[in-house]
Amino acid sequence: MEIVMVGVCLLAMGVCFCLGILKWNEIWYSSKKRLPPGTMGWPVFGETTEFLKQGPDFMKHKRARYGSFFKSHILGSPTIISMDPELNRYILLNEGKGLVPGYPQSMLDILGKSNIAAVHKSDHKRIRGSFLSLVNPYMLKDQLLSKIDKYMRIHLHNLDDKTVDIQKITTNMALLVAFKLLMEIESSSIYEAFKAEFDKLMVGTLSLPINVPGTNYHCGLLARKSLLGILRDIIEGRRNSLMKHNDMLDYLLKEEDQRYKLSDDEIIDQVIMILYSGFETVSTTSMMAIKYLHDHPSALQKIRDEHFAIRGRKKPEEPLDWNDYKSMVFTRAVIFETSRLATVVNGVLRKTTQEMTLNGNVIPRGWRIYVYTREINYDPFLYPEPQVFNPWRWLDKSLESHNYCFLFGGGTRLCPGKELGIVTIATFLHYFVTRYRWEEVGEEKLLKFPRVEAPNGLHVRVSMY
Ligand code: HEM
Repeated sequence: MEIVMVGVCLLAMGVCFCLGILKWNEIWYSSKKRLPPGTMGWPVFGETTEFLKQGPDFMKHKRARYGSFFKSHILGSPTIISMDPELNRYILLNEGKGLVPGYPQSMLDILGKSNIAAVHKSDHKRIRGSFLSLVNPYMLKDQLLSKIDKYMRIHLHNLDDKTVDIQKITTNMALLVAFKLLMEIESSSIYEAFKAEFDKLMVGTLSLPINVPGTNYHCGLLARKSLLGILRDIIEGRRNSLMKHNDMLDYLLKEEDQRYKLSDDEIIDQVIMILYSGFETVSTTSMMAIKYLHDHPSALQKIRDEHFAIRGRKKPEEPLDWNDYKSMVFTRAVIFETSRLATVVNGVLRKTTQEMTLNGNVIPRGWRIYVYTREINYDPFLYPEPQVFNPWRWLDKSLESHNYCFLFGGGTRLCPGKELGIVTIATFLHYFVTRYRWEEVGEEKLLKFPRVEAPNGLHVRVSMY
C-alpha cells in the first residue's frame, strides 16, 4: 500500500514539475514584448514532436486558434510560422531587410559554408550568378537538353515486363542525370562511390546536429569528407590534364568571367549544392506525376498524345530538341499540377538578422520564420476544386506567374534550377509515356509530410506501349 502511495505521490510531483516547466517556458517567452500568439512547448524540444507527427494538421489547428501568424518552437529554434500569402510574399521579397535563409545548422554544416543558402549579399550574388551561368536557357538549349535526353534513354531502357519501384527509378534518375551534367566523363565506379556517400549526406542534412558516432549528423559529416576527397581528386586530375570535357565542372574550373569566378572550395560546395537542391524535388515530382497520371486516364491520354505527336515528327532514335521541349505545353501543366497537389515543397525557412516588426508583432533577432506555403496550394479561390488533379488549369499561363505561386520560391532566392528541373522531368515523362504503360501493384502508402515519399516504394508493373 505504502509503495502505491509513494508511486502516486511521485507521479503527481512529476506531473506538477512538467506543468511547471511548461508554464515557466510560456511565461519566459511572454515576457518578451509583442510576440505573435502561440505556444512554445517544452524548453529545448519545443513542439517539434507534435509538429512532425501531425504535420499539416498541426498547422491547421494552430491557425484555427491563433490566426495565420503565430509562434512556436520547432526543430530546435523559436520559430514564427507565417501562413499568410501576402506576408509570405513580403518576407520572400525582403531579404535585404534582414530576412535571410534560415536553414538548420546540420544542413549548413554538411553542405559547406559556401553553399548558396549560407551566403548573403555580394557572396550570394556571385555564387547565384555562377549557378545561373551553368543553367541559363542558352546552356539548357545548346548543351544540357541533349545530355539529359541521352542519359534518360539509357536510364529508362529495358523496363518492359518488369515490376519496378518507381521511387527508386526516379531517385536514381535525378542523381544520375545531375551527376552526368556536372561530371560527364567520370567513370561509373566514381559515380557509384559518389552515390553511396551522397545518400548519407542527404540523410545527415535533416538531422539534429549531434556529432556523436552513429548519429545521422555524424554520418553526414563523414560523407561530406569523403565527397570532398573524391571531388578534390577529380579537380586535380582535370587541372593536370589538357583534355576538354564540356561539362559543368569544366565550366566552373575555366570560368573566365571574373564576376563569377569561384575558389576550389566554393566550386566543391557549388557541385554538392547543385546535386542536393535538384535531387529530391525532381525525383518526387517525377514519381508523383507517374502516380497521378496512372490515376487519371484522361490526363494520361492527353500527355501521350502530346508526346506521340513529337515522336511523329522525328526519326525513331532522334533525340529531343528545344522546339520539342517548347511544344510540351500539357506536360508542363502536368508538372505544375503535380508540384501543387503533392506539395513537393511545404515552405521555406528564413531567419531574422535583427529585431524587426512584422504584422504588428516584434520578432526578435535570430528567430526562424517558417514561410509555410503549403496551404496556398489548396486555396479554392486560386485553384477551384483544389483537391482534384486538373493539369488543364495551368494552360492559363497567368497561373504560373501569379503573386502567390511559390512552388519554386520567390524573390532573390527564386529557384535558379526551375527550368532545368522542368526539362528533366519533361524528358523523363516523354520516354516513360511513349515507351511504356504501367499498372500499380498493390496499394502503396504515400506520405506527404514532412516530405513526399513512398516509405515502402511505389511499385508498378511495366509493359511496352
Ligand atoms: C521541380 C523541381 C524544383 C522545385 C519544386 C524547386 C523548388 C525550390 C524552391 C521552393 C526554392 C526556394 C528556396 C528558398 O527560398 O529558400 C528553390 C531554391 C533553389 N533551387 Fe530549386 N527547385 C527545383 C529544382 C531545382 C534544380 C533542378 C536545381 C539545381 C540544378 C535547383 C537549385 C536550387 C538552388 C541552388 C536554390 C537556392 C537559390 C538561392 O538561394 O538563391 N532547384 N528551389
